[in-house]
Amino acid sequence: MISRRYLLTAALALPFAARGQERCGAPTPADVEGPFYKAGASLRGNFIEAASAAEKMVLTGDVRSADCKPLANVSLDFWHADDKGEYDQAGYRYRGIVTTDALGRYRLETNMPPPYAGRPRHIHVKVQRIGAPALTTQLYFPGEARDAPRALVMKMERRLEGRFAMYDFVL
Ligand SMILES: [Fe+2]
Repeated sequence: MISRRYLLTAALALPFAARGQERCGAPTPADVEGPFYKAGASLRGNFIEAASAAEKMVLTGDVRSADCKPLANVSLDFWHADDKGEYDQAGYRYRGIVTTDALGRYRLETNMPPPYAGRPRHIHVKVQRIGAPALTTQLYFPGEARDAPRALVMKMERRLEGRFAMYDFVL
């Protein structure tokens, strides 16, 4: 179900999209946290495990303000399921924090999470500017998330070295 507010913000974003600044002006929507968040993850941009049966993926993008300014030093606290659809409750596998650089860019390398428990594949994240409340949301994969807001679906390309996903946040 697409809300009236979502349609309105999508319409407001169109002039920016025409200038190549997709979604600026429309804040990234929140999504449920779920039961598996665990605070205290360390700073790391690579979750890949050699033993994982899941395909590798790289997720990149940037974080911008509603007026399209790149936001540096934003933390992105990612967590997702392993190749068996399980979250590490004992430790911090597939959990970690990356921060944006001076141009607002971030990068995460990981193994693709599988669909689990009737849910489409997704990656959880808390995006936080210093001194501001965190945006808690989830990113979805193209063609798999009929119930998810379209604004939370990543762009995805398949390359020789794995999948390459792109997602830009607006706070
Ligand atoms: Fe989840």
